Amino acid sequence: MTATMTEISRDSASGGINFSGKVLHPLWLRERVVEAEAFDHISHQRLYEPAELDPGLKVKIASLGENGRNLSVAFSDGYEAVFDLDILAREIGLSDNPETIPLPKGWRSDLEFKRFDWNKLDDPAEMKALLTAYFKNAFCIMDNTPTDRDSLKQHARRFGFVRVTNFGELFNVETKPAATDLAYTDLALASHTDNPYRWPVPSIQYLHCLANEVSGGLSTLVDGMAVAEALADENQDWADILEAVPVRFRYDGPTGIYEDTAPLIARDYRGFVNHIRFSPRLDFVPALDPETLTVFYAARRRMHQLANDLAFQIQFPFRPGTLLMMNNYRLFHGRTAFNGKQGYRHLQGCYIDHDGPQCLYRTLVNGSKDTYIKREES
Ligand SMILES: [Fe+2]
Repeated sequence: MTATMTEISRDSASGGINFSGKVLHPLWLRERVVEAEAFDHISHQRLYEPAELDPGLKVKIASLGENGRNLSVAFSDGYEAVFDLDILAREIGLSDNPETIPLPKGWRSDLEFKRFDWNKLDDPAEMKALLTAYFKNAFCIMDNTPTDRDSLKQHARRFGFVRVTNFGELFNVETKPAATDLAYTDLALASHTDNPYRWPVPSIQYLHCLANEVSGGLSTLVDGMAVAEALADENQDWADILEAVPVRFRYDGPTGIYEDTAPLIARDYRGFVNHIRFSPRLDFVPALDPETLTVFYAARRRMHQLANDLAFQIQFPFRPGTLLMMNNYRLFHGRTAFNGKQGYRHLQGCYIDHDGPQCLYRTLVNGSKDTYIKREES
């Protein structure tokens, strides 16, 4: 936004202003004042109740500052404020906002992606590149992480706060007798998403390889966004029913009874697929009329086929030190079979929330060299 591009005038119809063709409501503008008596510059919180402002508020005078970058406004209730036009322009989309989280982009098996070296992530540019790749693809792979047992807690802390679940703070994926989950066997795992019965569902999953002496057991990833779009391209009725029918997911095992009900596919306010729930061994569709259920089962069958179709899937082996970070709301993950008698295989896993990496990204674009997110000390 340059001074020569900026055009400001009062908008008589709304009582607000016209900013280069965009009309701004007077209350919208008033809520953005950053004068010290109205806005705390440490917490960045308002020091008044905006819902108590005069509902008939108007802009009486609006004038550009001499440098063309500031806007001085006198409101009808006597309040005067100066606005930074660059900040207003970013918020209303007249200029790019560097804090905007990179958009997701659907991918298939031909995806080319970079693996990241753990030892280089203290460089903010490298960490920002990793986060950008993560937001776009919904996963990233890091190599050369320390492999001490439980070190995943510290690794995940770079990106957010570890979310404790019914499987613990960390869970161990190793073959063991009387397993409480198929993950703890050497069987293949079809594409699925984790813990759809939890509310909220754990967001970002880490899998950290400490040891691997077996040749199989490749990790598989499939982009749920690409699968949902392919499904809609084939048959819109299938896509619609998977977004409409609330399915009950239930875990009833030694660690508790958890249940939640939601459609298999959900979208965000922009229309992006933002939550795939897919775990056909523990989903329970309601007893809808047979005609509807026939469509539902056809749609779920096709979703299962696409989610396990090699054309959509990437596979990679876990080596000691490999750390996978993936969005459990967007990706299906699975595993090829292996022979547990061939040797020892030990992965540790944990979850963090979506907003950790987003917070880190915003911190980095604002110029901080701190590649760790912080916790308030009490
Ligand atoms: Fe899983």
